[in-house]
Amino acid sequence: MSEKVVFLGMGGTIAGKAAQAGDNVGYTAGQVAVSALLDSVPGLQLALGGRAVLSEQVCQIDSKDLQHADWLALAQRVRQHLALPEVRGVVVTHGTDTLEETAYFLSRVLPPVLQQKPVVITCAMRPASSLTPDGPANMADAATVATSEGARGVLVVCAGKLHAAAHVQKVHPYRVDAFDSGEAGPLGMVEEGRLRLFNGWPAVNSEAGLVNLERLSQSDWPRVEILVSHGGAGGALVRSLLIAAPGDAPVRGIVVAGTGNGTIHKDVEAALRIARAQGVRVARVSRCAYGQVVGASTQARSGEFQAFGLSAVKARVELMLAIAADTQP
Ligand code: SIN
Repeated sequence: MSEKVVFLGMGGTIAGKAAQAGDNVGYTAGQVAVSALLDSVPGLQLALGGRAVLSEQVCQIDSKDLQHADWLALAQRVRQHLALPEVRGVVVTHGTDTLEETAYFLSRVLPPVLQQKPVVITCAMRPASSLTPDGPANMADAATVATSEGARGVLVVCAGKLHAAAHVQKVHPYRVDAFDSGEAGPLGMVEEGRLRLFNGWPAVNSEAGLVNLERLSQSDWPRVEILVSHGGAGGALVRSLLIAAPGDAPVRGIVVAGTGNGTIHKDVEAALRIARAQGVRVARVSRCAYGQVVGASTQARSGEFQAFGLSAVKARVELMLAIAADTQP
């Protein structure tokens, strides 16, 4: 049986089109089918080492508009493809804006056994219609990674760099090299069609896949909101979250991007305590660009507000999955 690499399209700038070829900002994301994008990748067959390609459009969106249902559809398609023995790996073309959340989500919901194969998410900062699109090279690099010896886990490839889902973050709104892995650094580089891996493949979390995707598809996802603690902050935002407007789900969790070592303004803290007393789970992270919450601050010592060593958007995914797992029979 010949090996295959599956390309799943989610939309994004990589599939974007502008009226003018020179326009790299005034375009519409999610216009070009992933099958057509594949035709624009020179040297794809070389990167794939002659393996067959299968493509499938999962959705076609600007990733800022991503819905939980899109994550679910993607996770289900990835899971189904990876389970087939002939599938060597999956490449996902995705918008850059929420790519890090999708990567983190997949790394937490795909069972460890399937993460022994690679899921490589790639993207572009210039639309497909650009005079100099970066998507084709990123797709070729993703193909190189997906077929590299030992490749596993949920990975991100952009501008020649390979990142792990746990650390990758979009750090620039315009630069082609828009992603960074902070203090962890990238896992490797793709250079002239070859991967130079200098940090090893990411460890697969043995607790990944604990949330049952089928059940997640049958129930409402727990509502988890993010807020930032800042100078001049108060408790009003938290208090307003506790009153669900008609038609809105009640809030089940709040992630606070805290100052410095994940500390929270005393007025926000007081309101969060009320939220917690009403059964809302509260997590805190640091709003700093680097590092993570270290040790237990006075506010955390009571165990009230669990600290996550993640960015706020990834902590939101983590908390949402934790609440869902707790409530799943
Ligand atoms: C998107 O995230 O879908 C649009 C922006 C991008 O891909 O760079």
